[in-house]
Amino acid sequence: MRIDKFLSNMGVASRTESSKAARQGLILVNGVAVKKADIHIEPEKDVIVYCGRTIEYRKYTYILMNKPDGVVSSTEDGRDKTVIDLLPEELQKLNLFPCGRLDKHTLGLVMLTDDGDLAHRLLSPKHHVKKKYYFESKFPLTEEEIAYLQKGATLEDGYITKPSQIELFENKQSGNIILVEGKYHQIKRMLESVNNKITYLERITFGPLVLDENLERGQWRFLTDTEIKRLEEHK
Ligand code: URA
Repeated sequence: MRIDKFLSNMGVASRTESSKAARQGLILVNGVAVKKADIHIEPEKDVIVYCGRTIEYRKYTYILMNKPDGVVSSTEDGRDKTVIDLLPEELQKLNLFPCGRLDKHTLGLVMLTDDGDLAHRLLSPKHHVKKKYYFESKFPLTEEEIAYLQKGATLEDGYITKPSQIELFENKQSGNIILVEGKYHQIKRMLESVNNKITYLERITFGPLVLDENLERGQWRFLTDTEIKRLEEHK
């Protein structure tokens, strides 16, 4: 693998930054400074130092994105822009996919990865990974409706939702809801079951991950080592 590709995939530097760093003698391969960033390395064997920092090789890529409105959380779509389209070209070449879907008009936290095993585990129904959403509804919700939704709402197809937690805000038309499952359009359908309607929905947590307030809509960043560790250890 080319060293500039390696540094870009590891979230360390763009290709332009790598070229500049190489010219300045700031990239070492096994202790020797390289003049150019297009040389090939063996990521699993070679020791790479970038600007004084040893860069560990990580087989998979993990990304946190703040999904904007109107973008679909799939890998390909003939009509709409996808979360993959929001990534730079180099990352689009990796086989990244969103770990769990958000509807086209739902905003907020999406984790993207190419680590199929981790995604499979986090999405498996038996793991009950908690997801917190901020919502706004068309009409105020009553205490009875909240109790019903929390206990388990019967959706239009007869499915009874698993218990959820709802924190209703003062205006009774907004709040946070925590789900342990992710059925198709679940929150919208839950609100429909009490003759109400979601007018705004944003995911703010996914398991141990929290939406990064520094990310504007449509922006992304690599997960930190701590976040990856928390996901791996998440039961
Ligand atoms: N529930 C919904 O209705 N939509 C989402 O995007 C996520 C949960």
